[in-house]
Amino acid sequence: MKSSFSDLWQVGRQMLCFAILATGFVISFAVPSHASSAGDVWGADYFPNYELQAHTGETLRFFDDVIKDKVVAVNFIFTTCKDVCPMETARMVSVYKIMGDRVGSDVFFYSITIDPENDTVDVLRDYAERFGVDGENWKFLTGKKEEIDAIREKFGLYGDPLEEQDLSNHNINLMLGNQATGHWVRRSPFENPYILSNQLGAWLHGYKEAGEHVQNDYASAPKLRQISSGEMMFRDRCASCHDISGGLAPGRNARPLGPDLYGVTLRREDAWLRRWLAEPDKMVASGDPVAVALNAQWEIVMPNFRLDDGEIDDLINYMAGETTRIEQRYAAAVEEKEHDMHDHSSHQHGEH
Ligand code: HEC
Repeated sequence: MKSSFSDLWQVGRQMLCFAILATGFVISFAVPSHASSAGDVWGADYFPNYELQAHTGETLRFFDDVIKDKVVAVNFIFTTCKDVCPMETARMVSVYKIMGDRVGSDVFFYSITIDPENDTVDVLRDYAERFGVDGENWKFLTGKKEEIDAIREKFGLYGDPLEEQDLSNHNINLMLGNQATGHWVRRSPFENPYILSNQLGAWLHGYKEAGEHVQNDYASAPKLRQISSGEMMFRDRCASCHDISGGLAPGRNARPLGPDLYGVTLRREDAWLRRWLAEPDKMVASGDPVAVALNAQWEIVMPNFRLDDGEIDDLINYMAGETTRIEQRYAAAVEEKEHDMHDHSSHQHGEH
């Protein structure tokens, strides 16, 4: 695990000593192994259920509404913080964008102010807007100071009370967690956003799925994750260049380096696709007309990953399945959105 001394160092603030120590040396912690069932690990008994107000105007209870049964990213901010928090929020925005359409369905983001006297609902709403955060899947929360401090304490993110008198000392770590399985890790917000989002998306989600099927058995949870090998391979090797979106699902790459693979198993012959995945470089070199035409549209040639037949099967299954999933999920969502426009209620902002 890579810590981020250099990034932090550039922040140039001695006051961050505490955060640096926590970031560098307390990297993660796991649930106690004697935990007996998914329901009571770091559950309602552990986390308080205080009421918090979201920048969108709703009141949310910390346990029941914010974290219960969810995979979440939670950090603590204050809006008048000049350097650290904006960097931290910007980094969260990157993770949020990389996570794309999974935010909200799988994963939820929360930023809780540690300066509730100043950070009212209105102030938080402005702050969220400045970062282009919509209120659906990422809530900025305020509440009672002592209750927020108690929540931070539960996460182990409350610093020395003396140091805490200066808000800038606040511990800038980010908690990633899966309440249902009781698995929480502490991360530096300066960690590479791809690593953070991978962890949220794949790793935590894998635990969640495992947790649904097998209770009580943390040791075996990682082996039982439901993510297919095709999906794992795609995330590791393909997703940095390719989206599968079809313009329906949000893309993960700001500037994709290769074509959108939505529907690719339908638009290409099976034999062509298999050969392409096995030896794209040779196909271009040998003058295959489809390969040459594709290659002319993109700046790079796709790498040859020396995939074997089994890996190619897995990837093709994943791309086909993902196309179907998106088609079904977003067709319904688009319809719903059109329907909602007619009885549009509390959402106020008109940009984008
Ligand atoms: C470094 C970027 C990069 C990576 C990584 C990459 N590709 Fe590609 N891919 C491309 C480019 C660019 C093209 C367009 C053809 C060309 O220029 O080579 C392409 C084309 C394709 C096509 C054909 C698209 C079409 O419209 O017919 C498929 C299928 C494909 N890639 C699948 C994959 C899979 C599966 C992986 C992971 C194992 C992968 N790619 C990894 C860059 C990449």
